[in-house]
Formats: sequence, C-alpha cells, structure tokens
Amino acid sequence: MSSNHIIEEKKQGQALVTEINNNNKKKLFIESYGCQMNLNDSEIVASILSKEGYNTTQILEEADMVLVNTCSIREKAEQTVRKRLQKYNSVKKINPEMKIGVLGCMAERLKSKFLEEEKMVNMVVGPDAYRDLPNLVKTVEDGKDAVNVILSKEETYADISPVRLNSNGVTAFVSITRGCDNMCTFCVVPFTRGRERSRDPKSIIDEVKDLWENGFKEVTLLGQNVDSYLWYGGGLKKDFDKASEIARATAIDFAKLLELVALAEPKMRIRFATSNPQDMSLDVIRSMAKYDNICKYIHLPVQTGSTRMLERMNRQHTRKEYLELIDNIRNIIPDCAISQDMIAGFSGETEEDHQETLSLMEHVKYDFGFMFAYSERPGTPAAKRMEDDVPLEIKKRRLADIIALQQKHGLYRMEQFVGKTVEVLIEGNSKKSDLHWKGRNSQNAMVVFPKGNEKIGDLVNVKVNDCTSATLIGSRL
Ligand code: SAH
Ligand code: F3S
Repeated sequence: MSSNHIIEEKKQGQALVTEINNNNKKKLFIESYGCQMNLNDSEIVASILSKEGYNTTQILEEADMVLVNTCSIREKAEQTVRKRLQKYNSVKKINPEMKIGVLGCMAERLKSKFLEEEKMVNMVVGPDAYRDLPNLVKTVEDGKDAVNVILSKEETYADISPVRLNSNGVTAFVSITRGCDNMCTFCVVPFTRGRERSRDPKSIIDEVKDLWENGFKEVTLLGQNVDSYLWYGGGLKKDFDKASEIARATAIDFAKLLELVALAEPKMRIRFATSNPQDMSLDVIRSMAKYDNICKYIHLPVQTGSTRMLERMNRQHTRKEYLELIDNIRNIIPDCAISQDMIAGFSGETEEDHQETLSLMEHVKYDFGFMFAYSERPGTPAAKRMEDDVPLEIKKRRLADIIALQQKHGLYRMEQFVGKTVEVLIEGNSKKSDLHWKGRNSQNAMVVFPKGNEKIGDLVNVKVNDCTSATLIGSRL
C-alpha cells in the first residue's frame, strides 16, 4: 500500500504462482482479494496443499482445484468475487472435473449458504480452518461438497512455513496476530476472523531469520491490530487476565516484539500494519525510534475527524486523543510518515462531521491515504442499530473531497524529499520502464531512478530530483 488512491477491489485479485514440489501432479490456481493478511493466508494454504500433491499454476484453464481467498469488507469486494466465480464457472463447463473452493472472509460470513447461492462452489473454508484442507480437499475430490468455517481460539498457523507466492524475493509478509476484538461498529472483520490471538514470538523470529537467509531484505509484520499483540503462552487476548501470574509477568507486547525482531536480524528492514490508535503505545513509538532497521512509517487509520462519529463507530478514542498521538509520534520520530484510512458517509454523518474530517486531515497532512464510501455490512453492529442514512450521492461527494485533499497532502509530503538523499531498497523494475529501478524509502514512498550496476535487493542512496503525488524521481549519487 504505497500510493494515495482508493483500493479498487477488482484490481487486487492476483494469481499466485510457484513451483513447489516437482513430484506434485495436481494443479492449484489460487487467487487473493482484500488485505495483505489474505495474501499471506494464501501462502499458508499453498504450503498445506503442496503436501497434498498440488503445485500452483497461473493458468486457470489447466487447474484441478481453483481457490479464491475472499474479502467481505465492502459490498463491492464481495461483488468482485461473485464475478470471478462466474468466470471459473465458464471454465468448469469445459473442464467439469475442476473443483472450486471459497476461502476467507466471505466463506466465514456466508458459510454453507454459499453452496446454495453459487452452485459451482464445491468447498467453503473459513480463515481458521485451513489446517483441515487435506480432509476437505479429499472429500471434494471424492465428489462431495465440503464446509469448515469453525473459528478458533488458538490457531495462528505458527508452525506452517508459507510458500512465498508471486514474490519479488525482497519483501515478505509475516503474520503476528489473527482476528480482532475491537468491534468497530461498521466492520465485519471481528465476525469473519474471530477473536484476537497472538503468535509465538519464537516462531515469528525464526521465520524472519529464515527469510533473511533466503535473501529477503524487508518484512511486514501483519495483523488487523498489531499494537494489540500480546504473547503470554498462547490463547485469546481477552483471556489474558485469567493467565497465571508468571505468564502475565513474562508476557511480550508489540513494543517488545518489535525490539526482538529488530535485534534478531539487524539488517532486515521491518514494517508493520495495521496500527490502531486506541492501542498504539508510546513504547511502540520508542522502539521504532531506537532501531534504524524499523521503517519510519505508521499506517494509522482514523476513519473520521469527528469525535461524535468516532463514538458511533466505537473507535475508543476522541479526535483530541488521536491528535495527541500524532504529536507524540512527530516529537519522538520527526521524520515519520503517517497514513490514514477514512470512511465517508457513515451512518448519521452530517456536513459538520465531514468538515471535521477535512480539518483533521489539514492538521495531520497524511503522506498516504486509503479512502472509502461507507458500505453497510450485514450482521455488524451498525447494520443492526444504525440507519445507513447518508445518500449515495453525498457519500460520493464527501469521498471526492477527502481524496482531493489527500492528493494535495500526498504531493506536499513528497515535495519535502526533493533535493534530499533517501535510502532505497530496490524491489524490481519500475512499472513504466525496464531502464529504471523502483523501491521504497523508509517512509514507504515509492522511488524510481535510472539503473546502474545495482541489483534487486540492494539498499542504495538516491538523490531525489523531482516528484509526483505518488512517486519520487531520483538518480544515484
Ligand atoms: N485493522 C484493519 C482494518 C481492516 S479494514 C487493518 O488491518 O487494516 C480496512 C479499512 O477498510 C478500515 O480501516 C476502514 O477504513 C475500511 N472499512 C472497514 N469496514 C468498512 C465499511 N463497512 N465500509 C467502508 N469502509 C470500511
Ligand atoms: Fe475492523 Fe476496527 Fe478491527 S476496523 S479490523 S474492527 S480495529
């Protein structure tokens, strides 16, 4: 997530490829929609199925098994998946042996209803049930339908080594928590991904070290709410109070985990997402400041600038508290980049509330933003108790205001780098030209510059000569 634009779900589907095991005969086509966590989950699924005789393919028509890892966050995300299912169905008509499975948040939300609603689907698997895939796949191969949408108190897939799919060989995701306990009233995630639980820090560090040994240079620690990370020997975050005294005394929180990871692999660049303002502690900011290899970038969704709306959203902090957090970040890490998520037109939002969002943005001047019109999700507290009462036209207009302002701020932030030298990790060819490299600086700004004798994975100094609102344009010193 590196430029200021609305995430268009339809663009996010990505066929993932790798050759895993040469003895594998069956072919798996797996696609992911939605968040980075889904991409990482697909890597876990590919790893589990490689042991069941499946290698991944990028060619839909030759697949024996088609899996789509789905997103429920907005209605549009679900519509995109439904369209993909139609496409798979047209291929299945030519290849009737092909099996189709739905993974992730839509699977969890709709459960076996999926099999009734979409006749082409053979298998429905929720985000905590991937370990059961060997059984489920066998059932499907035997010609029966299979469903497992049981949510778990423990599952973190800690011991499963993800197969790095579609990888650039430089950057990788490492999951550290699953689920979310926050219950923001608009959000479906607590219902589709279950209660919050943290992964054993040892397995996280082992994975990071293993990635380094395999040439990776940057990891992003992933969770719905990373600041809420808490390891006390396993189990749900909400059961922490019931743990033994010794377990509580030796618990590891996110600030500590960051420090452990930074020290374990001092040259590995470390990023994390997503931070929740109500849970982000000063200790986390201090850990970031202390270690050079922790990137100076925080994705800190706020959703709205109005305290009244924050309350309706059950965000557990006020506008004032959020701005204090921003001040603390800027005091402790003056060069830290900050990005937002915003929702335009949530239930009850007035023009005055909207103006508060714009004035908060004016104050923070975010580096990047991810902005959405409110989409009511069935089963959420907002859908149950609050009317979706802002007309679509007004939602769209407010969203356009927010996007326009973000573009202005994005450009302003990028301009601050012009004339300076930034350190860039080279990720690959620039999108527009094979003669240019692309990579990101610590603040997550995309940088492009003409190729010299560098190679992918090198960390190099680049002088910034120019910029757009999404890209820094530079040259080697
Ligand atoms: N903590 C999570 C948030 C997941 S949802 C994370 O890891 O990013 C990502 C963003 O989608 C939210 O921050 C919010 O801005 C947006 N979003 C969530 N539910 C939404 C809804 N019902 N309508 C519109 N946008 C929504
Ligand atoms: Fe959703 Fe709020 Fe959790 S946005 S993922 S309920 S922090």
